Amino acid sequence: MIPHVLPTYNRADIAFEKGEGAWAIATDGTRYLDLGAGIAVNALGHANPDLVAALTEQANRIWHVSNLYHIPQQEKLADLLVEHTFADTAFITNSGTESAELAIKMARKYWYEKGEDRVEILTFEGAFHGRSTGAIAAAGSEKMVKGFGPLMPGFKQLPWADMDALKAAISDQTAAVMVEPVQGEGGIRPLSDADLRLIRQLCDDTGALLILDEVQCGMGRTGKLFAHEYAGIAPDIMMVAKGIGGGFPLGAVLATEAAAAGMAAGTHGSTYGGNPLACAVGARVMEIIADPAFLAEVNRKAALFRQKLEGLVAAHPDVFESVRGQGLMLGLKCKAAPADLVKAGYAEHILTVPAADSTLRLLPPLNIGDDDINEAVARLDRAAGRLHG
Ligand SMILES: Cc1ncc(COP(=O)(O)O)c(C=O)c1O
Repeated sequence: MIPHVLPTYNRADIAFEKGEGAWAIATDGTRYLDLGAGIAVNALGHANPDLVAALTEQANRIWHVSNLYHIPQQEKLADLLVEHTFADTAFITNSGTESAELAIKMARKYWYEKGEDRVEILTFEGAFHGRSTGAIAAAGSEKMVKGFGPLMPGFKQLPWADMDALKAAISDQTAAVMVEPVQGEGGIRPLSDADLRLIRQLCDDTGALLILDEVQCGMGRTGKLFAHEYAGIAPDIMMVAKGIGGGFPLGAVLATEAAAAGMAAGTHGSTYGGNPLACAVGARVMEIIADPAFLAEVNRKAALFRQKLEGLVAAHPDVFESVRGQGLMLGLKCKAAPADLVKAGYAEHILTVPAADSTLRLLPPLNIGDDDINEAVARLDRAAGRLHG
């Protein structure tokens, strides 16, 4: 008999009822050190007092208001996003997938308004942009699209980080290039700064818009507020979600005024996008993460964690191959199956997330303490030990 919850996930047999900082506590009382953070969502840890206060204060006032009216909490979040980024404007969404959908619509509308028939969006293999029909067509992987055709036309996937393929494919007929600065689901694979700069240059040369998907790598995850800042470039459109809500469903599309030019009243909307509860939390998250002192701490912790992970890889050469990633978006490239490591992690009461390209993802809360980093490495060491007996 089909479960009451549609069985689209292979779930571990654990349920959590409480969280405290980097720890998630299961219904049987077991404390798990959470290096998954809901897949890069709980950026400030579980039950963060600042976020609990922002949410409950708003919950006592008003929960939902239609976008037929002004929503001050939404305006505050948009102000913060514009203040701290390249963007001139922001549309608040509820998830990364919805951000992908709007980013695609915005790029198409930009060219429509210019009276040009430019619809093709170039994407990269290994990408993940969400599970809507548009987002799976954009990523184009066999695993995601099989059985869901016909696919939305207008996307072309290029080999990951293959700049020659991009040079050959991009032209003055290209609508946009859409790419994650650091692929998450694809296996914590960063684009080099030089490649990101080249992509920006190729977009400038052809007029194509640059859409960056920072749903997973944004919001302080890599040690900058947004990952593209390392390369000193800016996109035209950017997708945000995950960490921005700190655990509350929230996302955003950020854009320059020029890129957003076609999105006039009536061209897009969302019942929940801009919801006061979500935006009250999101604004608090932005205030905390955009603080340079907070980001400096992320980088200090990331350096500590990475150094210890290099030691872990050296201690288990039969299990691990290398450490990769940036900031606290870290991956252990594995020789063993990442799914086996995740399971061994459960036995050691530590939560990790598998990814493609034989990679185990480590995405702790950005405010994880040094003690918890030490504890995480000890548990990962024992988990790896389980694999080679
Ligand atoms: C880079 C990237 N884009 C988009 C998405 C889709 O976001 P959501 O699951 O919130 O719809 C994800 C989710 O993992 C992601 O990692």
